[in-house]
Amino acid sequence: MYCSKVAATILTVAASVLPACHAQAPAGTPYTDPETNTTFTTWEIPGPLGLTFGLALPDSARQVDATDFTGYLKCNTAIGWCGISLGGAMTDSLLLVAYADPNSKLETENAVAISPRYTSTYSLPAPYTGNLSITPLSAHVDESTKSFETIFTCASCLHWSQNGTEGRAKTSSGMLDLAWAISPEKPVIDSTGDLRIVQHEKEGTWVAQV
Ligand code: HEM
Repeated sequence: MYCSKVAATILTVAASVLPACHAQAPAGTPYTDPETNTTFTTWEIPGPLGLTFGLALPDSARQVDATDFTGYLKCNTAIGWCGISLGGAMTDSLLLVAYADPNSKLETENAVAISPRYTSTYSLPAPYTGNLSITPLSAHVDESTKSFETIFTCASCLHWSQNGTEGRAKTSSGMLDLAWAISPEKPVIDSTGDLRIVQHEKEGTWVAQV
């Protein structure tokens, strides 16, 4: 009797925890963006502070480690920021932080900025100083759904080097360790022109099959 109560309690606790842990199947879901006609494999973290990340890799990515990709990022926050770690952790990985910013490159009221960052500690990531190139292809800010999205090319983004530390996402392995974080707090540009953000409210990691 006691055992079955314990088992029932364990099952109830597990049921409430497990769906959150398994929100992203490694295989992802295909999505074709109608504007750029690009097909991505996407992974979704559902909910008000969730996000969807999509990857379109070169055809050779399973044979030779890719360095470039086209990305899709939809963040379920209107004025906050969300980010992806291309190394599966906050530290020692290339981080891409996105936020709705009318002053960013596309120069429309729908523009979304992407700031590459890097840190070796659990504190505000510094600007990434390595060599990469991010080109926005489209961006939308949707006040009604309180979300923004962007499509961008990211050249030299799947390998990184900062402060003597190097890393890479090995696309030839067929599996990538990725991570995400999101905050509803609006980023601030400080007097030096750099981005100030506060710690994410939600974060997590997943394995992506590519
Ligand atoms: C002011 C900025 C930030 C602060 C102060 C901060 C702080 C932290 C702290 C303290 C943790 C550990 C939480 C725990 O173990 O309980 C953490 C984890 C994490 N952070 Fe951040 N963070 C910041 C920005 C970012 C950004 C920009 C990203 C991604 C783009 C990110 C991604 C993650 C992820 C994925 C984790 C969990 C996985 C891991 O431990 O590496 N963080 N952060």
